[in-house]
Amino acid sequence: MKTLVVYDSYFGNTEKIALSIAGVFMTNDHQLAYRADQAGESLPDDLDLLIIGAPTQKFQATAGIKAFIGKLPKEQLRGLKIAVFDTRVSTDDVKAAFLRFLINLFGYAAPKLRKLLARKGAKPVGEPEGFYVKDTKGPLHEGELERSEKWARKIKQAVEAQEAVA
Ligand SMILES: Cc1cc2nc3c(=O)[nH]c(=O)nc-3n(C[C@H](O)[C@H](O)[C@H](O)COP(=O)(O)O)c2cc1C
Repeated sequence: MKTLVVYDSYFGNTEKIALSIAGVFMTNDHQLAYRADQAGESLPDDLDLLIIGAPTQKFQATAGIKAFIGKLPKEQLRGLKIAVFDTRVSTDDVKAAFLRFLINLFGYAAPKLRKLLARKGAKPVGEPEGFYVKDTKGPLHEGELERSEKWARKIKQAVEAQEAVA
């Protein structure tokens, strides 16, 4: 399954998750995870699955990942299977009540990325997922790398199942 993982990361946490997800799809030595600013402006031919991940900043995906998506030719996204994830802070870790309120109100990056990509004709596989950091710069909560592998395996199985009936 030809898969590409494109991510953005300021403090390295989303990168760790992206590499853990990429590991699940790795079948040979080819690099399949790129930072958004190194990923180019078009997608490889015959791509089966594009996975996009971003840190949540100001309740949405970072500018780098949105710019990457913005530059992709629409014809390449149309019908392409995609899965999205973000990293985020849990409201359990946010002390300020008003900020918790805002997070509950405005949400996180991954569902918005999914909407953006779906509007461009991409076909979401599985559910958007969020992986938790303890604080702005991290670290990731315990177990999040394992949870990201589990999520990736689920996405992989869903794509394989869709390909089996196609
Ligand atoms: C400017 C800024 C705004 C942020 N806004 C949010 C937010 O709205 N919601 C949230 O859950 N986390 C927010 N965070 C925390 C980031 O989600 C966290 O820094 C990120 O997950 C870490 O990933 P990275 O190491 O890959 O950059 C914010 C962080 C920064 C620096």
